[in-house]
Amino acid sequence: MKWFLDLAGFSRPQIDDLLRLSQQLDLYPEPNALSGKVLTLLMLRSSFHTRASMGAAMGRLGGTVINIAPSGSGWEIETSAEVMDGPTVHHALELIPSMGAYSDALGIRSPGSFENLAADLNEQEFTRLCKASPVPMINMESAINHPCQGLAAWKSMNDADIPERGGRLVLAWTYEQQQHPFGTAAAALHMAALRGMRVTILRPDEYALPQPLLAKAQRAASQAGGCVIETADKATAFDTAHVVCAESWVAPGCYADLDKERTIREKYRDWCIDERWFKPAVEDCRLIHSLPVRRGQGVAGDVLNGPRSLVTVTARNRMLVQMAVLYRMLKK
Ligand code: CP
Repeated sequence: MKWFLDLAGFSRPQIDDLLRLSQQLDLYPEPNALSGKVLTLLMLRSSFHTRASMGAAMGRLGGTVINIAPSGSGWEIETSAEVMDGPTVHHALELIPSMGAYSDALGIRSPGSFENLAADLNEQEFTRLCKASPVPMINMESAINHPCQGLAAWKSMNDADIPERGGRLVLAWTYEQQQHPFGTAAAALHMAALRGMRVTILRPDEYALPQPLLAKAQRAASQAGGCVIETADKATAFDTAHVVCAESWVAPGCYADLDKERTIREKYRDWCIDERWFKPAVEDCRLIHSLPVRRGQGVAGDVLNGPRSLVTVTARNRMLVQMAVLYRMLKK
């Protein structure tokens, strides 16, 4: 495997292989499998779980991780300018090949511009960075994707016996004061579509996902025997749901105007998932969130820490599925 950029780039047997291998590496550790191998992470947006889970994954296989996280260090990284006459010191197009010279693989987090929706829907920045890499690449979250997160959620659903075809998943937008890109939501949506689930996207009207993301998921769902619909109706969306993926994303109509977006967002402060939301769902409906989550703002604390929650399970599964990806990418 040379690239791990988008679950859509993998066949169902390849995904099943990664899920099976992640389970195998959990049960039967191989602490020397990647001895001598180096992974460098270039994180152009803040991260906690991705850095930690990748460090743990590489460490448990005997490899080494280098973390490049410029935020706040004074050594900000330029990704687009052709003439560097601002405060940035490094350009990604020089940094990526040089980091590649030290590494057997690179993981890059590049959340996009938050200015130009069309460019971000085309993964313009991320694609440019990938092309600069001389070694295999892992997507650590881009403007519209987060395949490691999607695969971890898939494993959590398998572990919890949540059905594929016929299983009902709600991708629920929640209020958070932060404005998040589409990556985690789009990855959860596409994962459920590939799984052949019946997916309902619950969101206020202004938060309808961009059409290309929806159309891509609808195509995948129909090929796998599922479907994707959208609604703004909180009262009915959870009907017979087996699992809820709670996420927050920015309103596409205000992508280039985050101040305006903030005023729209404030109307939906009551979109915090608490136990009452689950009344129409199946009794043991589960909750997944990619983290970080604003406790009491996006999801109520008793739900996050209650029996429905697969939040910590999924955080651990991030490590396990990344071990499988790294193993297939780097083990000779
Ligand atoms: N889920 C996830 O990617 O978390 P971080 O933003 O903390 O890395």
